[in-house]
This record gives sequence, structure tokens and C-alpha cells, in this order.
Amino acid sequence: MSIRKIAVLTSGGDAPGMNAAIRSVVRTALSKGVEAFGVYRGYNGLINGDIEPMNLRSVSDIIHRGGTMLYTARSPEFRTEEGMQKAIANCRKMGIDGVVVIGGDGSFRGAQDLTRRGLPCIGIPGTIDNDISCCEYTIGFDTAMNTCVEMVDKLRDTAQSHDRCSVVEVMGRRAGYLALNVGIAVGATSIIVPEVPYDFERDIVQRMETTFSTGKKHFIVVVAEGVGHVIEMAKEIEERTGIESRATILGHVQRGGSPTLRDRLLASEMGYNAVELLLQGKSNRVVAVQSGSIVDFDIEEALQMKKPFDFDLYKMAHEISI
Ligand code: F6P
Repeated sequence: MSIRKIAVLTSGGDAPGMNAAIRSVVRTALSKGVEAFGVYRGYNGLINGDIEPMNLRSVSDIIHRGGTMLYTARSPEFRTEEGMQKAIANCRKMGIDGVVVIGGDGSFRGAQDLTRRGLPCIGIPGTIDNDISCCEYTIGFDTAMNTCVEMVDKLRDTAQSHDRCSVVEVMGRRAGYLALNVGIAVGATSIIVPEVPYDFERDIVQRMETTFSTGKKHFIVVVAEGVGHVIEMAKEIEERTGIESRATILGHVQRGGSPTLRDRLLASEMGYNAVELLLQGKSNRVVAVQSGSIVDFDIEEALQMKKPFDFDLYKMAHEISI
């Protein structure tokens, strides 16, 4: 079947660089003589027929913007058979014969459901969590890491001025990739991630005491969300060490901002490759990065893969941050 109309949507949590991916999908399609459509608010837009034709200028002036011009949503209705059938019917009505889905694992499950019902889909990993198993780097991860570093550097200024400990929670859903990389980059004394069981006394208190004895007076503890409650942790650190401590939850600021060069480049490459795959007659694939190169995997296979946590990097962080 030749592909004449391609739609693109963003789904799940937004990530900086999603706009660059949308732009790339639209421009690649148009430059190859294929019509392009934008779907608003993720799978909800497919269900409600909130779909607009896109031209070359529809995606002008967005490459440098965070968020997603197509808006995004998590769609409970799409998980029902009725919702999926409505989505398929709307695509058929508009003659859309391929969809590019930018999002995380949950979004790829939706893409797989659509493909199984006869509408070819390709996934592009877009999430600040970097928790897509088949992919070394997801769109938004680099920007989020840089945002966190900028924020924690500011916290360091005040922690240093007051001889305090700054306990900082970063996002990551159930993964510690953001926390580990940020923790190393900001020189955190302790990095607490879900992949490595931690002991409060050994991994925080004792490390701080050892470092204190060598002359250090201010500390940064980076904690991945969900592992511990940073406000309570800060209180406990203060009680146990006598060092005044403050907690900061970086929160949704991590999801915003202008994407870095790396995210823009990655998003542009992934968008281009997603359209190419559809035009080659492929479907149910997810575009990914492996050993620095763009590759693609069957979505089913991709969803079953397990992403290794970099324990060597964690060990290194532990050794150099005293
Ligand atoms: O998946 C991206 C992410 O920002 C996670 O890091 C976080 O756990 C979650 O989304 C927050 O979701 P919401 O924006 O719905 O609060």
C-alpha cells in the first residue's frame, strides 16, 4: 500500500525536542510528496477527530521551543476497544494511512494497538526519563539533564554560603538515569536511585561525615523521585549530622525550556527516519539510538527489552564524590 497521508501526534508527558520531531515529520513527509496532518492532544485527538492538515509553515518557528505545539494527553478512552475503533474510523475518513507517535512506552502500546487494527504506526521515543529500553537517548533527556544541572548549581551557591546540605529530588518516573547523570555532573555527595537499594546511614550520613572530616562543609544529595521523601530526608539528615539541610523538589520545571542542540538533532533525525520507515512500508516499529546510530525495533520486541542500569557509572560516582 502506498502511503499518501501521514499524521503525527505527541502523547504522554511532554519533553523538550518534541516540537523539533513534529517539524521533522511534517517537513520530511511534505518533501517526499506525502500530505501531513497534526493530531491535537495525543490519542484523544484521533478519537475526537481533532486533526488538521499541516503545511511547511505550520511547523515554522517551533524548533527552539519546549513543550509540544500539538499539545499532549494521557488518554484513558483510547485504552478501550470503542475508543480505538473511533480513532481508526477518523483516520479512514480523512484518508490517513500512517501515524507517527512521539511519546513513551504507554504511547507505543497505543501505536501497536492501532497497527494491529490495520493502521500502520511508528513510534519515536520522547521522554525526559530516558526510560525506553531499546534506546540509549530519548528526546528531552539531554535538555532535562541540563536544566537540572543549572538548577542544582544555583542551589549549590546557597548551600555553600550557609554550610548546608541541599537534598534535591529529580524526576525519572521509576528510573534513575536522570538522577545518576545529574548527580555526577553536580558533584553530589550521594546519589539515590531506584535501581540500587540504599541504606540511609551508610549511603548518606556516613558519606557526609567522612567528607566533613576532610574539610567539606556543604553537600548535595540527589534523589530520584519515588525513592524517598526529600523533605523528611532533609530533616533526618539535619538530626543525624547536625548539618542544616533544605529540600528542593525540582518538579515540572525539568520538562520545560528550549531544547538543547543534542535534543533538536536527535528529534530531527528520528522524525525523518520515522517517515522513511512508513514510506518503506514498515509499521509497528520504534525508532531508537544504539551505539550512537539510528536504528529501529519492532514495538513488541522493544517493549519486552530491559534497559541496563549503568552500575559502573554509579560506582564511579560513588568513588569520586567524597
Ligand atoms: O514521564 C515524564 C514525567 O515527567 C516523569 O518524570 C514524572 O514521574 C511524570 O512524568 C509526571 O507526570 P505528570 O506531568 O502527569 O505529573
